[in-house]
Amino acid sequence: MPHRRHRILLIPYPVQGHINPTFQFAKRLIALGAHVTLSTTIYMHNRITNKPTLPNLSYLPFSDGYDDVGYKGNGNDVTYSLYAAEFNRRGSEFVTNLILWNSQQGTPFTCLVHSILLTWAAKVARELHLPTALLWIQPATVFDIIYHYFHGHSELIKNPECSIALPGLSLLLSQRDLPSFLLESDLSAYSNYNSLMLTFFEEQIKDLDVEKNPTTILVNSFEALEPEALRSVEKLNMISIGPLVPSAFLDVKEPTKYNSFGGQSQTHIFQPSNDCVEWLDSKKEMSVIYISFGSLIVLSKVQMEEIARALLDCGFSFLWVIKEKEELLSYREELEKKGKIVKWCSQVEVLSHSSLGCFLTHCGWNSSLESLVSGVPMVAFPRRMDQMTNAKLIEDVWKIGVRVDYKVDEYGIVRGDEIKKCLEVVMGSGEKGEELRRNAIEWKNLAREAVKEYGSSHKNLRGFLDDTIARS
Ligand code: UDX
Repeated sequence: MPHRRHRILLIPYPVQGHINPTFQFAKRLIALGAHVTLSTTIYMHNRITNKPTLPNLSYLPFSDGYDDVGYKGNGNDVTYSLYAAEFNRRGSEFVTNLILWNSQQGTPFTCLVHSILLTWAAKVARELHLPTALLWIQPATVFDIIYHYFHGHSELIKNPECSIALPGLSLLLSQRDLPSFLLESDLSAYSNYNSLMLTFFEEQIKDLDVEKNPTTILVNSFEALEPEALRSVEKLNMISIGPLVPSAFLDVKEPTKYNSFGGQSQTHIFQPSNDCVEWLDSKKEMSVIYISFGSLIVLSKVQMEEIARALLDCGFSFLWVIKEKEELLSYREELEKKGKIVKWCSQVEVLSHSSLGCFLTHCGWNSSLESLVSGVPMVAFPRRMDQMTNAKLIEDVWKIGVRVDYKVDEYGIVRGDEIKKCLEVVMGSGEKGEELRRNAIEWKNLAREAVKEYGSSHKNLRGFLDDTIARS
């Protein structure tokens, strides 16, 4: 039975890493018969070039005060806290009015789902007696680490000498595997950003008080991928509903007529180059390295040159996303003879191309999942935030990649020789490369199983909708 009566208000934090999984989530909800209203800032709304048009999907953007130009701070200066406060104030007002207006029209929302860093949205909804759910767009393991950090384990995490064991997780972590904003050593480089993130996450975790605020945590992951982590915090209701990547890449037939939604595409806030697939078509199977550091990380000039050197030395063909803000002055001409450089691409199309042999990635959670569902092994090159933990999982738990090594006293620069060594392992025909490729195919199949009609994520999502309707 489709869940016709559901009207869900969906609010992603306005950055690409939240927008992409939120759109895929909207699609899954609509496929199950829900009506979705997707609200983000006006600036972000206008930047998404390929928003799908669908029955049962409405867009209602709101102003954060930067409609034309967008907030341009780097997140590491004082203007960010001012911006965050204003975003919170304007967003709360908008969401209050929207919820009330919908009720007055006789079409009340049944639930508000928001991504992380938007605790204000949940507060507003609860004041108006609307059930809420958190869309956790990072792995469950990262949630557990942050949760335990704020529940009696902060000292343990600050001790650089020990391996960190957290309740309910058999995985042993070291400091370099922890989300960067938890670590004091990282505070120097991104001090304002880290302390703000810490405050936001603390607020988010405290907001999940089970007695006062029974909230479902919808995790962009799947049962087989993180069986322990999804249960590590027993008193919370965490369910996996991922991987939230376009279904065309999962070989999944949507259970309703909405399967044309999204098609091969994903949402973009930068204009993707349109000749990547044609270029990849001319390459041999598994012969190309794809390099991207997601939408937020901006690499230094020195780091870019180290990557360039590694690519020139190892001799494989490559497709490299160099964003507008990144500089690469040296080596450009030589590089363009051996590979292709673009400012942005349709990443899921690239990753699912048969010519792909390896993904050199910053381990953003969307990129990690997209690589996993495409069966592409990785060189994990984490920079900040959850990327450190994601890299640990990729290398040591799922065994589908190798992680670059570097010394902190070199300001986090990873040298060309190290990058080359890792690329050669993943691309090579040695035992390790074979093992990574075998594992990558196994995870790809398990990911696809999870979202099939009787798969765990699909069942969990149906259960969530049934439960929400019962509570609303
Ligand atoms: C942010 C954080 O940095 C990350 O750590 C967190 O896990 C999610 O939020 P971001 O850095 O942008 O995200 O990385 P990621 O999560 O990988 O998301 C990037 C998205 O942009 C992916 O969906 C990817 O497919 C897409 N992309 C990237 C493109 O479509 N084209 C490109 O050229 C590069």
